[in-house]
Amino acid sequence: MSATAGLTGQAAGGWRYDGVARVFHWLVVAMLVVQYSVALLLASLLPKSAEDSLVAWHFSMGSSVCVVMLARLAWRLTHRPPPPPADLSPRLRLLSRVTHWTFYAVFIVLPVLGWAAASAHGAQVKLAGLIPLPLLVPKDDPFGKAMQTVHPAIAITLLAVIALHVAGALYHAVIKRDGVLQRMLPGRGGVTP
Ligand code: HEM
Ligand code: HEM
Repeated sequence: MSATAGLTGQAAGGWRYDGVARVFHWLVVAMLVVQYSVALLLASLLPKSAEDSLVAWHFSMGSSVCVVMLARLAWRLTHRPPPPPADLSPRLRLLSRVTHWTFYAVFIVLPVLGWAAASAHGAQVKLAGLIPLPLLVPKDDPFGKAMQTVHPAIAITLLAVIALHVAGALYHAVIKRDGVLQRMLPGRGGVTP
């Protein structure tokens, strides 16, 4: 384990997220854009066949998000992130930490709850569209049925947290101009310790 391998570059006091952390961040963002778009399409009145393929896509992409987030969490726990800007108030510091850890927790747990919801429908889930998974709970299981309401509710609520996070990033970029956004953006710069 390298305690400083997550620190490179010149943004925000000289620090930057390392390349792996940045790839993970934007990969998950892209996957979630697709995942939420498909979920919204699921709500619309589509022909059954189209709906079926979209449902399979939802399971496939959603389970992939879980796997990528587990890998990302492992990276995060072994690579220290850049320190917050020195002038960030303790309250905002806490808010950003809570937001970030909420993302890690929810994007690992939410797909598992979706798996329980799908199982209660008796629906087959394939991990990343490839590896068939067993039913997590039996068909019509009460917990799984409850997840058919809880899973979408958490996913929709999370959109507010994502909006808060993006607002925070834009606040740093447009108002504070302190380089916090740059340290998560693609691009070169900086030296890997
Ligand atoms: C990050 C991952 C995921 C996100 C953001 C997400 C989001 C959502 C959203 C927004 C809905 C509501 C769609 C609607 O009302 O039409 C939904 C429904 C659903 N999701 Fe997911 N989902 C994820 C992963 C999964 C996974 C991995 C599975 C299954 C293995 C799954 C199974 C389901 C099921 C079965 C429903 C429909 C619930 C019902 O009405 O019975 N989801 N999801
Ligand atoms: C689905 C959307 C998103 C999710 C789930 C997400 C998740 C995360 C997580 C977990 C971190 C913490 C990284 C760590 O320290 O381990 C983070 C940091 C960051 N994100 Fe996002 N993000 C999303 C969208 C965005 C967008 C759209 C932007 C830019 C407009 C953005 C900008 C940033 C920045 C600048 C940081 C670094 C913050 C800092 O250095 O304190 N994120 N994001």
